Amino acid sequence: MKYIGNKTRLLEFINTSMQKSNVPLSGVFIDIFGGTGSVGKFFKSKGYQIISNDLMLYSYIAQYVNVYLNKMPTFSKISSNGICGVLDILNNPELSSRGYIYDNFAPGGSYKRQYFSDANAMRIDAVRDQIEKWYQQKKLSIDEYYVLVYMLIDAADFVANISGTYGAYLKIWRSMALKTLCLKIPKITDNKKNNKIYQLNANDLIENITGDILYLDPPYNQRQYAPNFHVLETLAIWDKQKLFGKTGQRDYSNKKSDYCQKSKASTALKDLVHKAKCKYIILSYNNEGIISREEIIKILSSVGIVEEYIQPYRRFRTEKDNDNRHYKDCDDKVQEHLYIVKISV
Ligand SMILES: C[S@@+](CC[C@H](N)C(=O)[O-])C[C@H]1O[C@@H](n2cnc3c(N)ncnc32)[C@H](O)[C@@H]1O
Repeated sequence: MKYIGNKTRLLEFINTSMQKSNVPLSGVFIDIFGGTGSVGKFFKSKGYQIISNDLMLYSYIAQYVNVYLNKMPTFSKISSNGICGVLDILNNPELSSRGYIYDNFAPGGSYKRQYFSDANAMRIDAVRDQIEKWYQQKKLSIDEYYVLVYMLIDAADFVANISGTYGAYLKIWRSMALKTLCLKIPKITDNKKNNKIYQLNANDLIENITGDILYLDPPYNQRQYAPNFHVLETLAIWDKQKLFGKTGQRDYSNKKSDYCQKSKASTALKDLVHKAKCKYIILSYNNEGIISREEIIKILSSVGIVEEYIQPYRRFRTEKDNDNRHYKDCDDKVQEHLYIVKISV
């Protein structure tokens, strides 16, 4: 998934840096800004017990599948052929209807927004309504429900007519957006551990959990996730509320992150680090983030000994960025910094 700050391409860098700093190879690994769940999933496959969290529901659902579940549920009330039988029903092209997504996010709808082709929007509507109907009829367990919603979100994201975020849709159709929506079976890893997931503010959750390694991947710039990924949240919540503005936003006043605000980010980080009950803290941040490197080192040094690893990394860009922004670097690289702190207080 294209997601601001997605660490999929940095997992090996994080893993080898942890080994260089002698971070234990087992125990409880907390991924408190989980996003796509890529970090939790990776360290789950290494055998750690995972605690994962994020503010957003679409992220909670991704973590449900990638982190919490250890096996694929049976879907026994829908099909004798498990998830494959369910996919035969949901991937049937005849399952299509003009509904909420069509009306709000397709050119044929009332608002003429171009997030999905008319055909894909109608497929998304029918599939999401079918999942909800099965759940209301008690034909799906909560595990099964979240697996199906996750598969739909993933498939919808694949054919979305955006470049990077849902902050805007493209005026010209990208080729992927014209492909047909197709749900795919996710791979579920089993670490034989009782993994836990939450949808809470990290600074609140931290008071109630303990672990060995606390991994922090907070937002590092002013782009709030809620408005930038609102279509995914709409698909996750499915409350069919009235949307507003040019891009069909939800009200996100209760989803604003302090980490995206220059005046609050460093206080929030300090608070989090001081409340943490763990042996190691690992922080990912990049050199263009709103908290300076000096400030980060000051905060982290107040709880332990800090080691720093640096990796050049390709910038996350959207089309809008290309038009309007001016970057510090001439090339397309930023530096990803990984701070590993052995807690000593
Ligand atoms: C840089 S992204 C994490 C990316 C993730 N590591 C991945 O690989 O996909 C930051 C995440 O933090 C979440 N977030 C922002 N503020 C938060 C807060 N105060 N508490 C919990 N999650 C928060 C955002 O919703 C976003 O998903």
